[in-house]
Amino acid sequence: MDKLLITGGQPLAGELRISGAKNAALPILAATLLSDKPVSVGNIPHLHDITTTLELLGQMGVDLMVDEKMNIEVNANHINKFEAPYELVKTMRASILVLGPLLARFGEAHVSLPGGCAIGTRPVDIHIDSLIKMGANIQVEAGYIHATAKRLIGCHLLLDKVTVTGTENILMAAALADGVTIIENAAKEPEVTDLAHFLNKMGAKITGIGSDILTVEGVERLGVENLRYEILPDRIETGTYLVAGAITRGRVKLKNTDPRILDAVLVKLREAGADIECGDTWIELNMHGKRPKAVNIRTAPYPAFPTDMQAQFTALNSVADGIGLITETVFENRFMHVQELLRMGAQIKLESNTAICSGAEHLTAAPVMATDLRASASLVLAGLVAQGETLVDRIYHIDRGYDHIEEKLTQLGATIRRVPN
Ligand code: UD1
Repeated sequence: MDKLLITGGQPLAGELRISGAKNAALPILAATLLSDKPVSVGNIPHLHDITTTLELLGQMGVDLMVDEKMNIEVNANHINKFEAPYELVKTMRASILVLGPLLARFGEAHVSLPGGCAIGTRPVDIHIDSLIKMGANIQVEAGYIHATAKRLIGCHLLLDKVTVTGTENILMAAALADGVTIIENAAKEPEVTDLAHFLNKMGAKITGIGSDILTVEGVERLGVENLRYEILPDRIETGTYLVAGAITRGRVKLKNTDPRILDAVLVKLREAGADIECGDTWIELNMHGKRPKAVNIRTAPYPAFPTDMQAQFTALNSVADGIGLITETVFENRFMHVQELLRMGAQIKLESNTAICSGAEHLTAAPVMATDLRASASLVLAGLVAQGETLVDRIYHIDRGYDHIEEKLTQLGATIRRVPN
């Protein structure tokens, strides 16, 4: 298993290009199952989760063509298996995203239950209950969701909780349902919006996009000739490199991104003392060599502060001036990184779902272990400022969600390399 070796201490300086959003690419690739015409998708990030999704689609019989720039052409017209097996779902929860499209287009889906994960129990009850309300017959047996439906029927849904992949699954199912589906308390994350735009490009009739009430008028079929779609930029990757700039008191310019989908993160970085300038497709952060100031964070669904940036800001607060409170409201048990940061000299106290961080003057390098995707990113960030050499183990978590992280950080002047086991 590869590890990352990081020598901390240099302020980062330089420019890099942000990749396409993982969390938009995954549902959009799943949505290609709905199309009876080939679809071409660009700006796909080079990530392990994407490889898993392609494997998942491929084993169903989907034809895939991937070029060296990660443009992917998908033809889902000859599917012979309607299954997402445990072996794939256990490595990537987002595999649940094939449930809605398979059921809506082919009337059948067998998807392994995702089970628990490092950041909490993460049930999929809202996905299942909503599809049942749309007329699906669903049995959960031997760890699998078995779903059938002649044709799904549109209905009025009020979701108990804001769920990103839940909203996406329902949107995809509703696009081919008979009649109108109204989804209240829908997730408004930019990745949900990107999926809705993609579905409309394929011929779906979705209105209310970007709001928490989505209305979907079902259509008979989806798919248009020569459809080409570009995935939106990754706001979490963008935020992570901005924190890399801030934590090292450096200056970074990120291109091929979109500042409009990072409001909550930019507000907190400015509060931490960063000088930030934005253009339409770029963001530049400059700390002018200053130590960051501690900030208070409360995670919640978009447009509030994203839970996927919580761990990175915990690392930032670990070396910031003052005391910062980090409250996690989206996932239980999403503080696995704290134990590892403590080993590097961070001063953090956990009280229920709040981490109280007293900024240390400096962190000290230590061998640490990644526990989930964003927790891993926070350890890399801590390694960038720690004194000495930090070895981050289990980086397969990072490869699930960060495109060429060591190359991108090297481009910004970091001393980081991948070491094989
Ligand atoms: C997605 C993102 C993930 C992000 C999260 C929250 C993808 C592939 N992943 O995950 O990076 O951290 O949104 O922004 O897009 N819940 C239920 N029942 C359900 C579904 C969810 O109780 O049926 C709960 C979850 O346990 C959690 C909350 O709702 O407490 C939000 O989860 P959800 O938005 O569904 O997260 P994911 O879609 O899995």
